[in-house]
Amino acid sequence: MTDFLLSKWTRREALTFALAAGAGTVWAPHAFSADQLPLITKPIPSTGERLPVIGIGTNSFSEAKREELRAVLKRLSELGGSVVDTAASYGESEQVIGELVAELGIRDTVFLATKLVGGADAKASFERSLERLKTQRLDLLQVHNLNGFEELWPQLLEWKKAKRIRYIGATTSFQADHSRMAELMRKYPLDFVQVDYSIANRGAAQTVFPMALERKIAVIVNVPLGGRGGVNLAASSERPLPPFAEKLGVSDWAQLMLKYVVSHPAVTCTIAGSTKVEHLEDNQAAGRGSLPDAALRARIEQYWDSPG
Ligand SMILES: NC(=O)c1ccc[n+]([C@@H]2O[C@H](COP(=O)([O-])OP(=O)(O)OC[C@H]3O[C@@H](n4cnc5c(N)ncnc54)[C@H](OP(=O)(O)O)[C@@H]3O)[C@@H](O)[C@H]2O)c1
Repeated sequence: MTDFLLSKWTRREALTFALAAGAGTVWAPHAFSADQLPLITKPIPSTGERLPVIGIGTNSFSEAKREELRAVLKRLSELGGSVVDTAASYGESEQVIGELVAELGIRDTVFLATKLVGGADAKASFERSLERLKTQRLDLLQVHNLNGFEELWPQLLEWKKAKRIRYIGATTSFQADHSRMAELMRKYPLDFVQVDYSIANRGAAQTVFPMALERKIAVIVNVPLGGRGGVNLAASSERPLPPFAEKLGVSDWAQLMLKYVVSHPAVTCTIAGSTKVEHLEDNQAAGRGSLPDAALRARIEQYWDSPG
């Protein structure tokens, strides 16, 4: 089947496919068309299940944006994307996602991740999340900002055993929490952690990432563009893309920043926040083709750090 398809590709497409395959890329038949490159996926270390490297963050999802968000989630699914990250504390986000995923009939293609905190309301919060997300089982439940982690752990294991959640995780977006997160990763058999990391914020690579590789824990990167408003994008708006960006087939800074983030060997995927279809499509394109190797990653860092 591959031979047949290869015969229809141009030499360049076939070469890109071969390079991407070497980098751990898999081909997603449902999403392929002549102008699209193969989808890049990475395995969850605790099971080997593969996830597309670019998912979506939803802390700005709201009822008021429902129509645009329907199109965003529809496009995510059409383009082969899967990871949708939300939280009990993200206002209307869970509710809107639950309703749209049900309306679009895409529950089977979406990897649903949400968050809760420890405390007297934890069990009720979990049940509310399932109800709002209109699902019997979450793909991933994360302890938000490590809040109440130790106290929640036995309950998380129980929910996992009862198959109400598939994976257990913990999140932070504060560098000050990285050493505590690394300690918890050493002590508890977590499936996932979620942590802040970007071209302008590389601290996790010194603490959380080495522990993730050692303990075989999946890493989701949050705030890959610098946070709400795309802070890193604003900082780069006056700068041309580096000349070597062409090698990676990226057409803008957002794609370069996302490819940089997910090319770290410890990183499983990232969840770029996007409430606009054009941003979603732009970001999904970064999850296809090839990723920078160690040498190219170093050149991206050098270019970012150099003045001007
Ligand atoms: N402690 C935690 O657990 C924690 C903390 C923070 C975040 N998170 C998770 O991480 C996700 C990502 O963080 P984030 O959304 O704050 O920051 P982000 O992903 O770094 O940036 C999102 C911002 O960039 C804009 N954007 C996205 N793609 C773009 C593109 N291609 N071109 C131009 N602008 C683009 C978005 O605009 P539009 O909305 O207009 O598309 C939004 O303003 C959150 O949604 C949340 O799920 C978790």
